[in-house]
Amino acid sequence: MKIGNDIYYVGVNDHQVDLFEGQYVVPNGMSYNSYVIKDEKIAVMDTVDANFTEEWLGKVAEVLDGAKPDYLVVQHMEPDHAANIENFMKAYPDTTVVANTKTFTMMENFFRGMDLEGKKHIVANGDTLTLGKHVLTFVFAPMVHWPEVMVTYDSTDKVLFSADGFGKFGALDVEEDWDCEARRYYIGIVGKYGPQVQKLLKAAATLDIQTICPLHGPVLTENLGHYLEKYDIWSSYKVESEGVMIAYTSVYGHTKKAAELLAQKLEEKGCPKVVVCDLAREDMAEAVEDAFRYGKLVLASITYNGEAFPFMRTFIENLTERNYQNRTIGLIENGSWAPTAAKVMKGMFEKSKNITWLENNIKIMSSLSDENVAEIDAMAEELCK
Ligand code: FEO
Repeated sequence: MKIGNDIYYVGVNDHQVDLFEGQYVVPNGMSYNSYVIKDEKIAVMDTVDANFTEEWLGKVAEVLDGAKPDYLVVQHMEPDHAANIENFMKAYPDTTVVANTKTFTMMENFFRGMDLEGKKHIVANGDTLTLGKHVLTFVFAPMVHWPEVMVTYDSTDKVLFSADGFGKFGALDVEEDWDCEARRYYIGIVGKYGPQVQKLLKAAATLDIQTICPLHGPVLTENLGHYLEKYDIWSSYKVESEGVMIAYTSVYGHTKKAAELLAQKLEEKGCPKVVVCDLAREDMAEAVEDAFRYGKLVLASITYNGEAFPFMRTFIENLTERNYQNRTIGLIENGSWAPTAAKVMKGMFEKSKNITWLENNIKIMSSLSDENVAEIDAMAEELCK
């Protein structure tokens, strides 16, 4: 695939990966993107995952068509992109590696014994590299998603090589909605680093960008305002969609019944969107994504060993470690002799900023009482205000 006149896509699709980054299910696989810019000087932008060495080197060789690459630009050292640096340097030993100081330190730690003597070009934030008519500017983007990350702007073709930014789950040979899997990817992987993403967006706003070339997911060429707007919402922890998420854990079905009754009442009262999630059975990353997407969240848990149920604890930890904030939360607890889940769940958000707690919370003793049913109606009413 060619992007503009001189930029070639040489990435790969991974349909073998069981868990991306060791934890995310990717039913439609994953893409590891890499690009070649052919100018008077030739630059290869990043490598790919360790399982695709031959396929990637084959694609690079085909594009090079006998020419020698001058530069390997390394924007991010996470092995889904950087695993083939040493293999590339063995294939093209005269190449100069272009990276920043932090990246070279990580490179030494990942590739012990790899000798880059005389083959390093260390860049500072804002430095440029001229390939011929293409001029690359390196913009540091620390913690989007690792500290060494930088993005690269090609001012000739107005292309932003955005590293993990604007990436998504899913291989490129599968058609699917961008927003859904880009949101799950963003919240899961970069969600904690909103302020750093905001900083990058501010830098990007000063550039004329016509194409975004991320390290995962499709090259973005049209309607870029849509993607930038989504990134602005996600990284500033704003509510993306009006609606209520009800996340529950239930062992014998009574707490589930409360969650479902609340959903029914919300729908009857005209709530624009209600999402019900069984935290023990649904994808945790999807659940976390939904909690960040909607403005209101109801947590319903049984009491277990004096705590919230384990899947609920994991869910809340996933939210708080990603700086969950600016949301309204309601609590439903169940317990057969000493319900304490609500107190535990509320306590887990102690450090979260700008959380509004519902006035109507619900304590169930084993199964729904008539009083509980009335309380659920009151909770639905408050959520619909
Ligand atoms: Fe796709 Fe942070 O690596």
